[in-house]
Amino acid sequence: MWKAVVTAAVAFVLLFCRSSTLDNGLARTPPMGWLAWERFRCNVDCVDDPYNCISEELFMQMADRLAEDGWKELGYNYLNIDDCWMSMDRDEQGNLYANKTRFPNGIKKLADYVHSKGLKLGIYLDFGTHTCGGYPGSIKYLQKDAETIAGWGIDMLKMDGCYANVSDMSWGYPDMEMYMNKTGRPILFSCSWPAYAGGIKVDYSVLAKHCNAWRNYDDIQDSWDSVTHIIDWFGDNQDVLAPVAGPGHWNDPDMLIVGDYSLSYEESKAQMAMWAILAAPLFMSNDLRSISPEARSILMNKEVIRISQDSLGMQGRRVIKGEDKIEVWTRELDVTFLPSYGIAFLNRRADGEPYNYTLTLGDLKFQYMMGYAVEDVFTGHQYGHYDLYRELTVSIDPNGVVLLYAYPSK
Ligand code: GLA
Repeated sequence: MWKAVVTAAVAFVLLFCRSSTLDNGLARTPPMGWLAWERFRCNVDCVDDPYNCISEELFMQMADRLAEDGWKELGYNYLNIDDCWMSMDRDEQGNLYANKTRFPNGIKKLADYVHSKGLKLGIYLDFGTHTCGGYPGSIKYLQKDAETIAGWGIDMLKMDGCYANVSDMSWGYPDMEMYMNKTGRPILFSCSWPAYAGGIKVDYSVLAKHCNAWRNYDDIQDSWDSVTHIIDWFGDNQDVLAPVAGPGHWNDPDMLIVGDYSLSYEESKAQMAMWAILAAPLFMSNDLRSISPEARSILMNKEVIRISQDSLGMQGRRVIKGEDKIEVWTRELDVTFLPSYGIAFLNRRADGEPYNYTLTLGDLKFQYMMGYAVEDVFTGHQYGHYDLYRELTVSIDPNGVVLLYAYPSK
């Protein structure tokens, strides 16, 4: 019992001693919403493909879906424009403006529309000379661009890092944060800096001072390989990454691709569960106008979202990586009395049948001697009460996940 008390005391101290950083009060839990890039890319062909091209129409339609189909109420409230929204040139005063054919009413009008739906609007800039898609970059215009987007009523900025020297990022991203602060408008700042600086070769304590979230690693693509590649990287580098995540500043493994073309139902559940365990931003990149009921139910699962949005803000860790290709990840959750946990059993096997996996909570270094009540987050199944020695067996589908919630009981 004394061990449990010590654990609770240590967790309490950690909670309140973790440095408070970027002072815009945003992203106290991992931000949620929708982001255009993975699904809609740089499709600028509004002549032949008007329904899918990057245009104000697309964003208004997604805003309608977020607002009317129940997403907003669950926390998915940021609607984010990515690359390819701009005109190819700045205007005569050096100001950015949107492509006039695809955004005939301009970004301010779009922001007004999005706000009228109770949502927030995010936009994309690039720190370098050009965006990754070849549109104007911000390196010589940081202050001007900060003022422009604030004037439009933008609520989030993803600042990419194509066509820039990594060495310039250590002044560039902090400068952009300063200029945005000066506008007086709170703008959630997502920085792509570490993704360009080799992932772990950055000083994350500096990043946490200036950014609300940061893309650490490779772009996600529409494949299970891509999802697992990113999960592996986060597991392999967790000793660097996990300690720097917390309220106001998050590692970002990139968008949720649930609802797109490639992931199976099990793989979709696995991505959602893992992003929740990783305390990752939940930005869906999918077509909300035609999303399947299965994908919707995964993305809207309130219990998974509750784990994602846990107020303690601890990023989960891979605690077991077995030769049997089963991984166990745990995330410590709310610490009002004693920690409870999210536990993800991730099956990396593709051999065709569900895999039975057995462990004890003691194997996971849980400490409350009286034990935990254990339930399945996706099915609601109550496993019952487990002290630290009782064997717990889960059946995990190929390329799938079992996500459990365990809380101290008795
Ligand atoms: C980079 C980013 C992506 C996306 C594209 C846009 O690759 O990592 O998320 O923003 O640029 O061109």
